[in-house]
Formats: sequence, C-alpha cells, structure tokens
Amino acid sequence: MTAKYAVFGHPVAHSLSPRIHAAFARQEGVDLEYAAYDAAPEDFAAAIHTFGAVGGAGANITLPHKERMVALCSQLSDRAKRAGAVNTITRAGASWHGDNTDGAGLLRDLTERHRLDLRGRRVLLLGAGGAARGVAPALLDAGVDSLWIVNRSAEKADALSDALGEPGRVHTRYLADLPSLGDFELIINATSAGRGEGLALPFSLASPRCLAVDLSYGEAAISFLAWASAAGCTHRIDGLGMLVEQAAESFATWHGRRPDTDAVYAELSARADALHTAD
Ligand code: ATR
Repeated sequence: MTAKYAVFGHPVAHSLSPRIHAAFARQEGVDLEYAAYDAAPEDFAAAIHTFGAVGGAGANITLPHKERMVALCSQLSDRAKRAGAVNTITRAGASWHGDNTDGAGLLRDLTERHRLDLRGRRVLLLGAGGAARGVAPALLDAGVDSLWIVNRSAEKADALSDALGEPGRVHTRYLADLPSLGDFELIINATSAGRGEGLALPFSLASPRCLAVDLSYGEAAISFLAWASAAGCTHRIDGLGMLVEQAAESFATWHGRRPDTDAVYAELSARADALHTAD
C-alpha cells in the first residue's frame, strides 16, 4: 500500500512541500502519496487524528500550527523540545513523534549552499512564533556571538528566550528599541509581516557586511529583502533553500535516506525567477 504523507497548514494552498517531496520520492525511488490539508486552528487536532486513523505515516506541520502540534505528540526530539515547536511528525504507535527540522534546514542552506560562516556573529531575530522558535536553538548551536529577539508582542519574545535558557547570550527587546540596538551581522526575519504591509526597520540595524535572511519566500519575502538591499546588506537570502533542506531532513527521517537537494532547489528557484519576471 502506498504510504501516506501530508503537510498541514492554514493556509496551505501555496505550499511547495507536496512538489518537493514528490521530486525527492522520484529521485530516491520511494512510493508515497503527499497531500496538502488546510486545517483551521480549531479543527487542527481533529484533522491530525483523522490522518492517523486513515493510516497516515508522517506529516509536515506548518504555519500556524507548529507550536500547537507539541501537545499532540507522545514523544519529542530534543530539538523539538528546545524549540517548543514541531514541523515534522512520524507515526509512533497510536500517537506521533514530533521533530523540528527547520533549524537544521536553515543551517545547511546558509553554511553549505551559501558557504557562510555564522560563528561569532551578532544576530537579530525578528519574530518569536513557530518559525523563530524552530531556528533559534540551531543558531545558538552554530556558535553565534549573541541573539537579540525582537517581537511585536514582548511576552512571546520573553517566552522564547526563557525556553532557550542562555541568558548570557540571548536578549529580548521591544520593536520600539530597534533604532538604539546598534548593528548586526545577521538579521533574520521570522515574522509573517511580509504577508501584510511589512516591518518598519531602521537602516542602522545593518552592519557593512550584514547577512539578511527571510524565512519566507516568494511575495512574502520581497519587502524585507528590499529593505536589506537598501540598507546595504551584502548577502540577501530568502527561505526557499531552507524549505528544501528542512524537507530533505524530514524525508531522511521518514525514509532512511537523504535526497540530493540541489536539483530541486535549482528547479524551484528558476520557477520563482520566471514568476517574478512575468509580473
Ligand atoms: P510562524 O510559524 O510563521 O512563526 P506565527 O507563529 O503565527 O507563524 O508567528 C508569526 C510571527 O510574525 C509572530 O512573531 C508575530 O508577532 P506576534 O507574536 O506579536 O503576533 C509576527 N508578526 C506577524 N505580523 C506582524 C506585523 N505586522 N508586525 C510585526 N510582527 C508581526
């Protein structure tokens, strides 16, 4: 019987995960079905339960459910525990094992695809939702000098900082403090503000050799990366590479082999460029 996999999100129609997993499966000769399910927050637990009942083997969990999924897992990997967010589930008997491959995906994209060294960098993390939680532990593990978390709601930034448990290296500040925070060598936009009118950021945040990363891709990343360009950031990277890499980590967890990501990344980037040229 063909194994059932899926991505759950809200909205989810835009998700590239079905296409990415289908490409990996073709490449690796794995027989699988990978669907996209839109579940509103109030229906999410029931949707996951139904997926299990019809024999679902594993799934990716995306916005806005990554934190909600934690409570629905009977087991969590260490990195999912530290993140307090789950983006990958694998069937474990009648329940689910939760993992988080976002941080590993981001690091692989930045350090291997883009050959960037994150060690010693002063880092600004904008946002404290599921996406920010997924990448924060991996940034600390990668040896950044300090991590400054700024979120619209201060309580969520404080909760993330507390969960990370490194008060010497992790600091939280208000959005209103941004003009007085000095400059950063890595700025990560982990907010979903790009889907609306974007963030108002001062140019003083960008150091001369600043790396700017938006965890979103496509339209949602345009406003932050345009700001980064105007602010003089030397490297500007969207979340497409991270998306492909976190998918490869999930695929490896489920199928026991790690697919080659270069071909899929190249195809998706070319398609994105063609879309923007067509605009
Ligand atoms: P995700 O899984 O993408 O992180 P999320 O958990 O809904 O999704 O988190 C969205 C993040 O974007 C949050 O940090 C949110 O700030 P709040 O915690 O204050 O809600 C942030 N965000 C969304 N719209 C924003 C805006 N217009 N300005 C600033 N931050 C915004």
